[in-house]
Amino acid sequence: MTRLIRNKSKAEPAPPTTLFLFGAHGDLVKRLLMPALYNLSRDGLLGDGLRIIGVDHNAITDEAFAKKLEDFIRAEVASKVGKGGDQALDPALWAKLAKGISYVQGDFLDDSTYQALAAKIADSGTGNAVFYLATAPRFFSEVVRRLGAAGLLQETPEAFRRVVIEKPFGSDLPTAEALNACLLKVMSENQIYRIDHYLGKETVQNILISRFSNSLFEAFWNNHYIDHVQITAAETVGVETRGSFYEHTGALRDMVPNHLFQLLAMVAMEPPAAFGADAVRGEKAKVVGAIRPWSVEEARANSVRGQYAPGEIDGKPLPGYRQENNVAPDSNTETYVALKVMIDNWRWVGVPFYLRTGKRMSVRDTEIVICFKPAPYAQFRDTEVDELQPTYLRIQIQPNEGMWFDLLAKRPGPALKMANIELGFAYKDFFEMQPSTGYETLIYDCLTGDQTLFQRADNIENGWRAVQPFLDAWQQDASVQSYAAGEDGPQAAEDLLTRDGRVWHGLG
Ligand code: BG6
Repeated sequence: MTRLIRNKSKAEPAPPTTLFLFGAHGDLVKRLLMPALYNLSRDGLLGDGLRIIGVDHNAITDEAFAKKLEDFIRAEVASKVGKGGDQALDPALWAKLAKGISYVQGDFLDDSTYQALAAKIADSGTGNAVFYLATAPRFFSEVVRRLGAAGLLQETPEAFRRVVIEKPFGSDLPTAEALNACLLKVMSENQIYRIDHYLGKETVQNILISRFSNSLFEAFWNNHYIDHVQITAAETVGVETRGSFYEHTGALRDMVPNHLFQLLAMVAMEPPAAFGADAVRGEKAKVVGAIRPWSVEEARANSVRGQYAPGEIDGKPLPGYRQENNVAPDSNTETYVALKVMIDNWRWVGVPFYLRTGKRMSVRDTEIVICFKPAPYAQFRDTEVDELQPTYLRIQIQPNEGMWFDLLAKRPGPALKMANIELGFAYKDFFEMQPSTGYETLIYDCLTGDQTLFQRADNIENGWRAVQPFLDAWQQDASVQSYAAGEDGPQAAEDLLTRDGRVWHGLG
């Protein structure tokens, strides 16, 4: 039986900071940011000097705002906060955090709101401020421009000013470039924290640790030994309440240039010269920038667009995408996408990366499968095992976090027979995991000024550059292939790999 390794964090508490949460009544604040702040406080990582200020247009008192957050967290996200066991929310701990919570009522587009924020900073005893834009994306440029005009983004040697934004960072290459230009007009890159919540996942961070702390991996991590790579993010949920957002977004924009390319970059990047923000982000930008730009014809041939039709998961009947709320009955928005991309560099030349993501698939499964080339010489000629099956390394991001080598071994007995076996590690078997939202590390890193896990402007633009040919191809032909809810994508996605003599790894 493995002994659980306790989490002995040596991290220092974050410095005193005023943290403004724009969009304070939104889901992101209630479901993820406040629970994550609570967990950081539980772990002693916030210190006493953190003030949390909600900013939004509704009127509410400071006390009522704090109470609303508390009630919500208690009822809705109990499993992601607390000390584990029955104690979901420790009243003393919450009271300590709630003391620093207040609220500014204001319109994001009204200059007087920003005067009120300046007054809050002046009042706070520290010049450090973080502005977290948990708002609809249409406000990003407007809010940032006003923060700049009000002088709130001016740093001094004693006081930092940082802005956090979450995807979508534009909806194609030109809009992403325009957003970056707007941000960089009023602040420098080292003040901008672009969040991709996949980088808050332990298993995603662990890809770098595995690759660069165990020299074993480097020996086979290249086109001599790896046949191809599959990156999958399968979800069982549909579009839920987000129909109107999703209609204009679709699976490609929603998942690929951000989450799936982050996974691709973690797998494919070169070792950084140092484990610091510049070196890591530089290597990631390079590898995403090395994705071969397909022509429009190639993009069409190397992509599959799918949309879920009515079906069922676990015996429960489910509507199709076109029957969801706020979705057009003849919508051609894709809820599934499969792509083949090639990385044109020394390490990966000739190794296809197949990416797929979809809603309403049979199981929730986010995983990376590194498929190895067959052994170069068939030792076991004229036996049952002369046709060796592919072997692979499976890195499961969620739900069962860990990594497994799927290898071949000899079955006991006189006949030469093989069986597939697994060598693996599941997080839950080795580490004591505290309840968490996945945002804890990201918020802490922002408060302490570590940009390693945040996206730089060139990461974003290189991602859109690689995706743009698919968008262009689909603009000419926006047809979607149907798959029933509960199926793992349309037949065309299987064909994409069969054509290359390969198959998708089974889900779940
Ligand atoms: C979000 C997408 O960024 O990521 C959602 O907008 C998607 O559509 C979600 O469901 C997936 O995140 P996770 O952490 O559940 O894999």
